[in-house]
Amino acid sequence: MLIRPRRNRKSLAIRNLVEETKVTTDDLIFPLFLLEGQRQKIEVDSMPGIYRLSVDLMLKEIEECLTLGIKAFDIFPVVPEHYKDKTGTKSHDPKFFYLSALREIKERFPEAAIMTDVALDPYSSDGHDGIVEDGKILNDETLEILGKMALAQAETGIDIIGPSDMMDGRVGYIREVLDENGFEEVSIMSYSAKYASAFYGPFRDALDSAPKAGDKKTYQMNPANRREALIEGDLDVDEGADFLMIKPALAYLDVIKLFKDTYAQPIAAYNVSGEYSMLKAASQKGWLEYNKVMAETLLSIKRAGADIILTYHAKEFASL
Ligand code: PBG
Repeated sequence: MLIRPRRNRKSLAIRNLVEETKVTTDDLIFPLFLLEGQRQKIEVDSMPGIYRLSVDLMLKEIEECLTLGIKAFDIFPVVPEHYKDKTGTKSHDPKFFYLSALREIKERFPEAAIMTDVALDPYSSDGHDGIVEDGKILNDETLEILGKMALAQAETGIDIIGPSDMMDGRVGYIREVLDENGFEEVSIMSYSAKYASAFYGPFRDALDSAPKAGDKKTYQMNPANRREALIEGDLDVDEGADFLMIKPALAYLDVIKLFKDTYAQPIAAYNVSGEYSMLKAASQKGWLEYNKVMAETLLSIKRAGADIILTYHAKEFASL
């Protein structure tokens, strides 16, 4: 035999020399769930090890993560039911606890990259990402609110806006609103190929944001479709997105690879709540070794082509 592939596996030193993919803390964004008030910390039942935190405790959490090398955070608000309405008014009220917390976080840690989510669902009494009228999700009317929300978030000093709503035209609309108001430095990480996935279940528990009626299939993509993702990707590039995201990650590794091969923009993948919970549940039962399957999972997402991974594993990965 002239070619013996095992020669390149014979020792750790050689294996390390030929290793093609490495995940580091530089690649990760840690999603965090913000509660109103002070000294509040509530674990998410369906996401063991993940806590909803009030701003005082979130500042501590971010400080610890920074020490571990995690420098980017995606912050979502847990909005109490009495603040919700049809049009998500609280999403652009500068006095709302989410926006004041973002201001506090950015003031305290200017070096951290803070990302925010733009979509109506956490603030909506219908639990949908857009305005609902007669059971339909209105596209263009929703854009106006998304623009206000993005602007209110930009005003807090955050770094990256993440439109996760899947309304048509929202990246271009948000870019225009940001630029008109002097926020041309604020980036947009578009949820470009966001699928109507059942893997978001635990996240909706965490935020109590599940749709009150219907599903999200008229705006999120059909899991059966790959070519259609290119229509979304092309639009987002044309509309000025700085990063393109695929979501979820694990069941969509082929879409990650397609985007990596197609676009020059950095590619992000969202390793979503359900993907996290599966590994936690199996390891709690003693069926999987958590640390190993976690590392292998993140590696697979990076190997498929993701430059950036949004993941609930971030802090545990960094602690290893
Ligand atoms: C809001 C949003 C969702 C997630 C991120 N932003 C839920 C949804 O679209 O229903 C899911 C994240 C996760 O499951 O970890 N539009």
